[in-house]
This record gives sequence, C-alpha cells and structure tokens, in this order.
Amino acid sequence: STSAAPPSGPPTVTMASEKTACGSVRGELSDLFRTALTLSFPSVAADPVVAACNNAKNGDYQCNNAMALFGKLKGTPNAPKAPRDVATAIVGALPTNDLVAETSLAGPGFINVRLSRDFVSKRLSGMLVNGLAGWAPTGYAGKKVIIDFSSPNVAKEMHVGHLRSTIIGDTLCRIFEYCGSDVLRLNHVGDWGTQFGMLIEHMADARQARVAAGGEDKDMDEDVSDLQELYRAAKKRFDEEEEFKARAREAVTRLQGGDAGSLAAWERICAASRREFEAIYSRLGVKLQERGESFYNPMLKGVVEELKERGVATMDQGALCVFLDGHSVPLIVQKGDGGFLYATTDLAAIKHRVNEEKADWIIYVTDVGQSQHFDQVFATAKKAGWLVDEGAKVSHVGFGLVLGEDGKRFRTRSGDLVRLAELLDEAKNRCAATIRERRAEAGEEVDEAEVEDAACAMGYGAVKYADLKNHRTTNYKFSFDEMLNLKGNTAVYLLYAHARIAGIVRKAEKDVYALAADTPISLDHPKELELAIHLCKFPEALEDAIEELGPNRVTDYLYDLSEKFNSFYVDCKVLGSEQEASRLLLCEATAVVMRKCFELLGIKPLYRI
Ligand code: ARG
Repeated sequence: STSAAPPSGPPTVTMASEKTACGSVRGELSDLFRTALTLSFPSVAADPVVAACNNAKNGDYQCNNAMALFGKLKGTPNAPKAPRDVATAIVGALPTNDLVAETSLAGPGFINVRLSRDFVSKRLSGMLVNGLAGWAPTGYAGKKVIIDFSSPNVAKEMHVGHLRSTIIGDTLCRIFEYCGSDVLRLNHVGDWGTQFGMLIEHMADARQARVAAGGEDKDMDEDVSDLQELYRAAKKRFDEEEEFKARAREAVTRLQGGDAGSLAAWERICAASRREFEAIYSRLGVKLQERGESFYNPMLKGVVEELKERGVATMDQGALCVFLDGHSVPLIVQKGDGGFLYATTDLAAIKHRVNEEKADWIIYVTDVGQSQHFDQVFATAKKAGWLVDEGAKVSHVGFGLVLGEDGKRFRTRSGDLVRLAELLDEAKNRCAATIRERRAEAGEEVDEAEVEDAACAMGYGAVKYADLKNHRTTNYKFSFDEMLNLKGNTAVYLLYAHARIAGIVRKAEKDVYALAADTPISLDHPKELELAIHLCKFPEALEDAIEELGPNRVTDYLYDLSEKFNSFYVDCKVLGSEQEASRLLLCEATAVVMRKCFELLGIKPLYRI
C-alpha cells in the first residue's frame, strides 16, 4: 500500500556503535587539514576552513586557509612569498589517507580536493549494510537538549504562528533525536494569566442563563466546546462592560488565591484547550510534553527574591526591573500590584531546566517578535548566575510570519485568524482529489482507506514542507496551489520522486541488502559519482541544520538529492543494464536517505504513485 512500511530496509541500528559512526566527509577532511596546518605552520594556530566546492569542475571539496595564513605570516622570518606557496606547503603536509585522490591549486591559493572513488563507494556500501545510524552528526549523543516549542495559549487561538513553531520545533527535535541526544520536547502552554478571570466569569454567566432557561445545572463540557468563541465573547464584554470587567478582575484574584471553584473552572478550560491542541498534534504526528506556565507558579516568588538579593533587579517607577546593557527598556519581573509576568515565568523555567533537568542546550522556537524578550531573559539569567559560560547553552530560534496570498497577514476572508484544523482539512482533501484523479487516469481501482492515508501523508507533508523549506526568519506566503504543485520544490513532488525510486527497486525483484554486502558500487559514470558524493554529504546537511538551527538545510539537501538522482537516471540505465546491480544500490541508497530526510521533516513517505 502507499504509505505502508518499506518492503525491506537496512538493519535498524538505533545508536551508531563506535565502529559504524563515521562522521562527515567534510569533518574528516577538516581533521586531515588540521594536522597538515599544524605540521606545515606550527607557529600559527589556524582552524581548517573546508567546504564543498560550488563547482564540481574544480573538485569536490576545497580548503581555503592559505590566503589568511599568508597574511598572518607576513613579516615573520622565512615568510612565504605568495599564498600559493602556503597552499603547496599545506598539501605537502597532508597525512596519508584513503579519502583524497588528488589535490590541485586554484586562484590565489585554494586547495581543491578530489575524493577517492573507492572511498565514496565503500562509504555508501557501508551505509546500506550498517544502516544510517552511523551517519548521524557526532558530538550530540547523550546531550540533554530541551526544545520549547509549539506553546499555544489556552483559550486563545492556536494560530499559524504556533503551527510554524510546532513544525520547526518538531524537526529540530527529530534531528537531535537522530543524533542520539536526550531530547525533552516541552510545550510551554500559556495556561495562566489574567484572561482566565473573564473566561471563568463568562462561563458562570452562561451557566446561570442556562439554568434560568430551565436547563440542567452542571459543569457542561459544551461550555467550552468552542474556545475561540468563548474567548471572543468574554473579551468583548471585558472591553465593553465595566461591571463585568470588575468581576473578571476579582475572579483573577480568587484564582490566584487558590480558590477551589475557580481552580476547577480553570482546569476545565485547560482541558478543553488541550483536547483541541492534541487533535492537531496527533494529525501532525508531533509529540510534546505539556509543561505550561502554571507549572512554574510556585517558583516565581523565589526567583524574584533571588533577583533582588543579587542586586540584579531594582525597583523603578513602582515595578521591579532588570536593566540590561544594550537594551533601551528594562525587563520587568514584577508589576506594582505584585503580579508576575511572562518573563518571570521564563526566568523560573530557565532555572528549572538548568538545575533540575540538567539541560546542555535549551532551544526556544517562537516568532522573531520575541527576540528581544529572549535576549533579555537570557541576559538576566546570566547576571543572576543561573546561566554560566561553561554551562547550558541557550538559543532562540526565531521565525517570520505566514502571509496570505495577498501578502498580508494570513487570515480568513472574515478577517479571523485561520483555524489550523480547517487548514489541514483542505490540504488533505485537495490531495485526496489529486490521488483519485491519477489513479483513475491510470485505470487503477481505488482503495479508499489507502487514499485517505496517502492524502494525509501528502497534505500534512505539503504544509510542513512549505514551511520548513523557507529560511525560518523570512516571511512566506501560504499557498495551497504552490505547496501542492506536482513539480518543483514541494513535498508532493518529492514524495512522488521517492515512490518512483522505490518502484524501480521493487521491479528488480532483488534483495538489495544482500547485494550490498558483496557488490561494489561502481562510480565510473560521472552522474553515478555525482549522486554518490551528494549522498555522502547528508551528514553535512544535518551539521549545517544544527549549526544554524535551520531545517531548510535539510529540505535544500533533499531537493538537490532528487535533482541529482533525476540527472543520474536520465543518463544511466538501471534495469536491464550491465551495471544493474550496482545502480540498484545507488537507487536504494537514494531512497534510504530520502526517507531519512522525510522522517526528520516529520513527513510520511509514499511507496506507490
Ligand atoms: N505562549 C507563547 C506565545 O504564544 C509562546 C511561549 C514560548 N515559550 C516560552 N518559554 N516563552 O507567544
């Protein structure tokens, strides 16, 4: 069936053993050049600068240290006469190895490297035989990585901004999980705040009205069946009715004071919200652990006390503030009326995540509009001594807006924020129509359950991919037509591309994994070699994605891979050719890496067109 598990696959190895972990080619070359640099110019410390060549004509990789090194050596005794001399010396000091087939100099002093075909071929065979676990970037295994993402607000809309956070956050989690990190996926739900006062009062009124109309007096779930409506109605009254406003304020005080009835109402509202969020998460296949703002309530007082004691926070115009270099406004941690703020909770959360959760890295995924907030929170936590240089790393992963086709903020025609459930429905329905159409054209019978599965995979995959392929900080236009396009850089195109490759392998009716063990992958044709080298660059795409906390590095890599495969497939006959066995291995290796990319992007692969 379309989205069923693969017919066969490489052995699943959850963690790479030391024997199978191989790092990236770029990393190995960097190690070689590091040695060469120390040997050739021991007096200057230099980190190797190794990158893939933009143009394969020059080489596969290049080392760009010679020019800067030449500058540094100027004026020293026996200084080299030209950058090229520096490059020659570096090349001369390269240790013997099995990666580099050939080096050449270009321009002022670039060192181009051509990889050994044998090395590339063996690396690919090794991947097929041992599985992809050994290809995960090294250095993250066992590290505690906390990713704070999605984090919608109770009784407010879960909007496209939260969708972005959910999608980007999930992919980052998946990348770190692949690397063997101990990932804690935290949903910092906005489940505490003054909005609950008006909600509780409005719900109480609705209940009274119901009883007055002869209805039953009980806590009915319907009270909170449409949270957005409830929120909107309550907000309207809060803004318009003085009497209601006053009652709402009192309700907040009661809730904060721990009043049992208020807490019960609060719980009901949270539960209803949770049901809505969970429905979206389960459709998207995203797992999260809810630890909302309320979790940190008991810690807020202590956090503020500590900030005062350490002289980090000071009173200013009635509020407790933290003044920070480089920021024109202070970070307020307690209001004049004693109330705590969003930032206070985030400070408590950092402390908790560092001290109790023993985080090595804490990553926050929100829109770029919150950059200043996180800068200030991080700086305050440093001042307070909760974050130290040798300790946990913190990163804010900011993202841009989702725009409608008109280039304005993404809203429905009525001006409301778009409901996520409806958005996902539309994506799925459109895909189902496409699939049915294609099946009809091919004269194939339609299995409804299978179409439903495939439509979900495609529709949700398309929404995710359209988001992830953009650099996260750019605003992008949400367009069904674009994201569901069968051609171009879309999930739909890539899913079909994968299904086609899987189909080729299936048609051969060979056990490719048995083949992989004893058939060397021949890379004599330039297109074979190009594809093979790109496959070997997969770990580098992930290294870059982690470095930039940018999932678009994975989508870029995946799209390039499908293009390289197409170009290989046009020139190199697979089935029925003399090189069939070896080329089948290239096909399967491509499919395996594509599936891993899909997995990291949270997209279910298709096996049938
Ligand atoms: N609930 C917030 C919002 O909707 C996002 C929370 C992000 N996480 C955090 N630790 N502040 O904007």
